[in-house]
Amino acid sequence: MDLTLSIIKPDAVKRNITGEINSLIEKNDMKIVAQKMIHLSIDDAKRFYGVHKDRAFFNDLCEYMISYPIVVQVLMGKDVVSRYRKLMGATNPANADDNTIRKLYGLSVEENSVHGSDSSENAEIEINFFFAEREVYKS
Ligand code: CMP
Repeated sequence: MDLTLSIIKPDAVKRNITGEINSLIEKNDMKIVAQKMIHLSIDDAKRFYGVHKDRAFFNDLCEYMISYPIVVQVLMGKDVVSRYRKLMGATNPANADDNTIRKLYGLSVEENSVHGSDSSENAEIEINFFFAEREVYKS
């Protein structure tokens, strides 16, 4: 079984649709094996999105990510990294396929409701960023 890191972003937590997103995750045969709500500091946000530090949207992205609490979660399942990215849909909700999370709930390229790791290597790094070993259920 594989693991990936998912973030339910401020726009979605604020609109109280964490449960609806979790339901889609579960209906699509992915298991939530760790989950917590946190309010990031600006330092956390800059470290987490460090790979984008030279992009024009970096500062706005970090400010947005600290604008309200987020829900971070670890998802488990076969090929979960690619399957969760497919369920999320394109970064820009306007380009996302029907029935994806971003098509259903995303508001804009920034307020796009969810994040998911883009590779198994990054999933491990991102999971370790948010969770201690004992917080992640492993069957
Ligand atoms: P995420 O998967 O969390 O990874 C980086 C985030 O940057 C991305 O989702 C978008 O929400 C955000 N972002 C903001 N502006 C842009 C942009 N112009 N192009 C791509 N990503 C953007």
